[in-house]
Amino acid sequence: MSEKMEVVWTVEDESGTVLLAETLAGWAMPGTVLALDGDLGAGKTRFSQAYAKGIGVPGIVNSPTFTIIKEYKGERLPLYHMDVYRLSEPEADELGLDDYFFGDGVTIVEWASLIEALLPPERLQIYIAHLGGEARRIAITGIGPRYAAWCGQLQGMGAK
Ligand SMILES: Nc1ncnc2c1ncn2[C@@H]1O[C@H](COP(=O)(O)OP(=O)(O)OP(=O)(O)O)[C@@H](O)[C@H]1O
Ligand SMILES: [Mg+2]
Repeated sequence: MSEKMEVVWTVEDESGTVLLAETLAGWAMPGTVLALDGDLGAGKTRFSQAYAKGIGVPGIVNSPTFTIIKEYKGERLPLYHMDVYRLSEPEADELGLDDYFFGDGVTIVEWASLIEALLPPERLQIYIAHLGGEARRIAITGIGPRYAAWCGQLQGMGAK
């Protein structure tokens, strides 16, 4: 299995995004890092909500824009949900993000590319782009053997 692999998951509507998130949630383990990016309003937070539900977080997961980081207690694993849209890289550096990335839970970072230098080298990158209406093109890049293998599994499920 190669160290880096990219697949594209095209969805016609919200249920396709939810299915992807639930699938990935099923593979979650301590130290999993998902780096989310994409068009404004494309569905980064919607994806995160479905993922949270998938790892057994009860209740509603909202966009953490104003709090930067929210922690949730999932049935299987803790979830650390971040939105770094309003942060500069030096500000983010102050937060000691490695404690989350290399901790016991799963970290989802919305707008992750804004703090790329602070991200762990191995991660799953997800870019959600509008295709018109509810359709989305979701590009998924696994960096590192574990995440590249997930992309291989997604390919087996129909991702291109
Ligand atoms: N295929 C789809 N996938 C995800 N969300 C969709 C889809 N089709 C429609 N939607 C709707 O689009 C909206 C996406 O909003 P969401 O807050 O998740 O976007 P976002 O990328 O987090 O936005 P922001 O850039 O402001 O953080 C939701 O209202 C959702 O119901
Ligand atoms: Mg959002």
